[in-house]
Amino acid sequence: MTATRTFTRVMVTGGAGFIGSNYVHYLLERHPAYQVVVVDKLTYAGNLASLADLDGDPRYSFVRADIADEAAIDAAMQGCDAVVNFAADSHVDRSLHDPGGFIRTDVHGVFVLLEAARRHGVRRFLQISTDEVYGHFPQGGESVETDRLRPRNPYSAAKAGGEMMVNAYVETHGLDAVITRGSNTFGPYQYPEKFIPLMITNALEDQPLPIYGDGLQRRDWLYVRDHCAGVDLVLHRGATGEAYNLGGGNEAVNLDVAKRILDRLGKPHSLLRHVGDRPGHDRRYALSTAKAEALGWEPRHDFSILLAETIDWYAANQPWWRAIKSGEFADWYAKNYAARGVHVG
Ligand code: NAD
Ligand code: TYD
Repeated sequence: MTATRTFTRVMVTGGAGFIGSNYVHYLLERHPAYQVVVVDKLTYAGNLASLADLDGDPRYSFVRADIADEAAIDAAMQGCDAVVNFAADSHVDRSLHDPGGFIRTDVHGVFVLLEAARRHGVRRFLQISTDEVYGHFPQGGESVETDRLRPRNPYSAAKAGGEMMVNAYVETHGLDAVITRGSNTFGPYQYPEKFIPLMITNALEDQPLPIYGDGLQRRDWLYVRDHCAGVDLVLHRGATGEAYNLGGGNEAVNLDVAKRILDRLGKPHSLLRHVGDRPGHDRRYALSTAKAEALGWEPRHDFSILLAETIDWYAANQPWWRAIKSGEFADWYAKNYAARGVHVG
């Protein structure tokens, strides 16, 4: 029987991002006596609007800092007994343009956090990782936690590097750390560079939906709240030094997901646009989740309902994503998609 830990003050890095902001809400709902310190650099992907409802809540505080900034992290970690690290550069396509930035945050930043956690005597460190560290699994079958890591792009290689550093701190310093490897996540507050929100928001704007290559790549979609529930369970009950797969059990072909989005919004399939493929595009990811389920994780699997709810959220919250799309995103879109043959204008 695994012991359940409790904490008083949890540092959530990357808490202004997509999964991190959903997790901050989840954490305070599930553990109302906890304090949460959000640390975030507020890169293009960080958005305090996703946490605005917590302003004034005495349990919540925010520190703007880079996880690679030793002095700032040292100060912010004061009094924290747990750290959950969501902070990362997280988009594969951007890692093809700027791999150095990914190494700085996803490897060196993890090291800075681990070193501070060791100095402060933090009782539990949770590193948020990804199914992409396994590399792809083109034919049937599922990745299990003991599989060799074979990342195939700079993002997943940097995430695997972060994991290796976590393992080093467990072994050499006895740090109590755990790792989660989540699959492709979707839901409210996701930056619209990622596939599902990009397809939804382009459809709402009657813009083409760029499908890389043949569009027959497969992803296993995990609803963000299920991801948060898995993270929370592993934080409180995971065994030291272990990694846990968190997969949604919703394997789907990209092209089919895009068509479902168009159908829900009553838009024509003629908006689908096959464009130049991503170099080194992973064909398929699939995870065995038996280990997390043995710990007590019970994800909701109904992709149809959750995808429809997510589409409706983006349709109802247009100011949230329109503000993003008119800013830095426009430059990114021109840079990434013009090179793939999409007319941007
Ligand atoms: P996101 O890009 O939406 O958010 C990342 C957050 O980290 C942003 O708020 C950003 O400002 C912050 N950040 C980036 N660099 C930082 C730095 N150097 N210091 C401090 N803060 C910094 O990402 P997300 O989709 O919410 O992903 C969160 C985590 O989950 C990442 O570690 C990612 O690798 C992992 N993950 C994501 C998915 C997915 O499908 N989105 C799936 C599995 C795992
Ligand atoms: P993405 O959301 O970038 O996640 P990941 O690369 O981490 O899986 O992409 C999900 C899938 O969608 C992936 O197979 C790439 C594909 N994709 C497109 O076809 N077009 C796009 O514009 C984007 C962003 C992704």
